[in-house]
Amino acid sequence: MAGRKMRIAVLPGDGIGAEVVEAALPIIEAVGLPWTLEIGDIGWEFWKHEGTPVPPRTWDLITRSAATLVGAVTSKPPREARAELDVGLRSGGRIYVSPVIQLRQRLALFANLRPVADLRGDRFGFVVIRENTEGLYSGIDYREVPEALWPSVGTHPNAARSGREHTAMSIRLQTEFGLRRIIEFGFSFAARHGFHRVTLADKPNVLRNSSELVREIFDDVGRKYPQIEGEILNVDAVGLWIVTRPERFGVIVAENMFGDILSDVGAGVMGGLGLATSGNIGSVGTYFEPVHGSAPALVGAQRANPLAMILTIAQMAAHHGFTTQAQVINAAVRRVIVLNRADELTPDLGGHATTSAAAHAVIGAVK
Ligand code: NAD
Ligand code: IPM
Ligand code: MN
Repeated sequence: MAGRKMRIAVLPGDGIGAEVVEAALPIIEAVGLPWTLEIGDIGWEFWKHEGTPVPPRTWDLITRSAATLVGAVTSKPPREARAELDVGLRSGGRIYVSPVIQLRQRLALFANLRPVADLRGDRFGFVVIRENTEGLYSGIDYREVPEALWPSVGTHPNAARSGREHTAMSIRLQTEFGLRRIIEFGFSFAARHGFHRVTLADKPNVLRNSSELVREIFDDVGRKYPQIEGEILNVDAVGLWIVTRPERFGVIVAENMFGDILSDVGAGVMGGLGLATSGNIGSVGTYFEPVHGSAPALVGAQRANPLAMILTIAQMAAHHGFTTQAQVINAAVRRVIVLNRADELTPDLGGHATTSAAAHAVIGAVK
């Protein structure tokens, strides 16, 4: 695809999402990416005033585009979501579903690629591949236990004491289809990118039966990749070792919630959420976004770190075959980080630069 004009849907979203997108977009032209950008609507404002955080015109834009870039969106619990909806929209029985979850599920973007790199040197470099469609975030989540499930759930002593209506539950869905797809993706990603080890972060010592299915599929897929070492570790230990021994990891595959948590731990090891990027990949589409959210406490202060957004653009470029431009962006970000000038880094990295000053520093480093 490299070399041809590619249409990119840009969905800035809420809070610092919009701020970092505005600061980061000029890097696209600075490195000569042949992308046509089209800005679209997503987020909390559209929920409040239109009753959906992803209006139909945005789905249309996403469909017409080769790839999508998202800033960040705000999600609030059901009660707040209902309360902030315009009065005229309240009767429709609308339910707020996070737009990022909608994008992942509706476009079947089953793999969430979250690289963790040592941006100050070369001590570690691994990728968390988070399953994006099932696991504990499958959406099978009940405020009270459905009657059909009570005969088994009600045998737990705490549930029996609380009663069906005062017991909530979520299901960790692990399917052969979903597991095989993500594990295959993990091994094939490792093979293509020169990683020698695939670690599956699970909890086989406690979730004994569901982990057994995971293990069977992991072993089966792993046999096709004899050159890659496969291992299954307890997720809690993986969390510890990401902090203490990050250099031991290559590809880490994890179910949805475990991957959500491990990728934030990885972000911490890199230096914070202001540096962490992600790509949501399926068999057809893609969308890319920083790992961070809309950070309400930072909004308006021009203190949000734009580097995660800039590095996300590089990840998107690399994925779509623009390897040189991706390398130029990555090298420029590394240069700014290593120079460690207070007027070029935002406060989360110890400096006092504004969002736009930090982005300008990277654009300057490109030139
Ligand atoms: P968050 O990522 O917004 O913030 C977590 C912490 O990291 C805060 O201390 C914040 O100040 C800091 N931080 C995040 N990004 C930063 C940046 N670029 N520069 C400097 N510091 C940064 O997570 P949260 O507080 O759990 O969630 C806030 C809102 O964002 C919620 O509505 C949540 O649902 C949403 N959210 C959205 C996404 C997404 O759109 N992909 C991801 C996570 C959270
Ligand atoms: C992330 C976020 C989202 C998730 C939320 C905002 C729905 O935390 O992208 O990591 O849990 O997937
Ligand atoms: Mn998260």
